Amino acid sequence: MKTQVAIIGGGPSGLLLSQLLHTRGIDSIVLERKTKDYVLSRIRAGVLERGLVALMEEAGVAERMHREGYPHHGTMIAYGDEMFRLEFTKHTNHSVMIYGQTEVTRDLYEMREKTGGKIEYNVEDVVINDAKTDAPYVTYRVAGEERRIDCDFIAGCDGFHGVSRKTIPEDVRIEHEKVYPFGWLGVLSETPPVNEELIYASSERGFALCSMRNENLSRYYVQCDINDRVEDWSDDAFWAELKRRIPADQAANLVTGPSIEKSIAPLRSFVVEPMQWGRLFLCGDAAHIVPPTGAKGLNTAASDVNYLYNALRDFYEKDSIEGIDGYSQKALARVWKAERFSWWFSSMMHHFPGQNPFEQKMKIAELEFLRSNTAAQQAMAENYVGLPY
Ligand code: APR
Ligand code: PHB
Repeated sequence: MKTQVAIIGGGPSGLLLSQLLHTRGIDSIVLERKTKDYVLSRIRAGVLERGLVALMEEAGVAERMHREGYPHHGTMIAYGDEMFRLEFTKHTNHSVMIYGQTEVTRDLYEMREKTGGKIEYNVEDVVINDAKTDAPYVTYRVAGEERRIDCDFIAGCDGFHGVSRKTIPEDVRIEHEKVYPFGWLGVLSETPPVNEELIYASSERGFALCSMRNENLSRYYVQCDINDRVEDWSDDAFWAELKRRIPADQAANLVTGPSIEKSIAPLRSFVVEPMQWGRLFLCGDAAHIVPPTGAKGLNTAASDVNYLYNALRDFYEKDSIEGIDGYSQKALARVWKAERFSWWFSSMMHHFPGQNPFEQKMKIAELEFLRSNTAAQQAMAENYVGLPY
């Protein structure tokens, strides 16, 4: 088989890139290791930056998001029983869109299917070949059969555990990592959200987040021990812990119910440099991971897709290789800023095992400074709604 861009991974990065390229008549094939149902069963954050909203519009997949999503103009930040609102629109003229990543992925699949997109599921043993030449190719197996795709470029959109990053030789690849000493226990429940906006709550017992998908679907998290197992947490224990970590007036309004999903995620900051090697380009989780505080995972993946899409357009439409050559540098400049924000927000809001009273005081001072200082609020709001591409 032959295509212009071989895309490894059918998560949101790969699908968005494929659909955007399609709008410019650039052909691609997506190779996905799992099935569509598996990809759609993963529950991830649900806050879309303005840049991703604009990309969804450009890709022609924004209709349901605008109909069913919720623009949010601020978020609540709590510590102990104190709570204040961080205003986005007042400080930045922008808002964010509350719309689940699962729904983004579903819309992308639907549109790819409607517009004749080529997606191969259940692929095994993907190997990237000759990425340093101008005739790279990908080999893989489906149902025991060997296949090969010849292409101009390869987009590595295969997530943190994929093959693309590892294809970059070890003497070229530099990996930066920070692992946090706790996890997030998340619960999805068919109950009305406790607040109209998200609540990020810091407490001496640890962090908690009140988020939502719609009027009757809430997503809540509590910081948990890194060694905890989901089976150790009954629904009752989860709700009781959440109530202890959010302001008392919010806890009093919390509607609880049976969990329909419960999972524990570790927290990690990770970046690989460079994000390209010859004609192989990494996008999204294949190249970087952020802790979920601030919901930058999908949004940072989208900014990579934006840079790669524009670079490929310039190559095919203007015969320019400038964007292609500059991809890694451009993408990384924004990635590191998202990493900084996620690390800063995580550090301020979580209880670190073994932290001393001085460190606890520093967090409270930082929160009180944020609460009272317009410049600090503006800086946070600009990062939260998304730095410009
Ligand atoms: N071959 C083919 N597909 C692969 C391979 C492989 N060797 N390895 C992994 N994949 C597929 C996975 O099954 C998955 O569907 O690549 C896809 C990668 O998707 P994600 O992990 O969702 O990564 P990405 O598309 O970059 O999405 C960005 O934002 O909120 C964050 O982490 C969250 O997934 C989210 C990410
Ligand atoms: C979520 O809704 O799952 C969510 C929202 C905001 C975050 C992280 C997760 O910062």
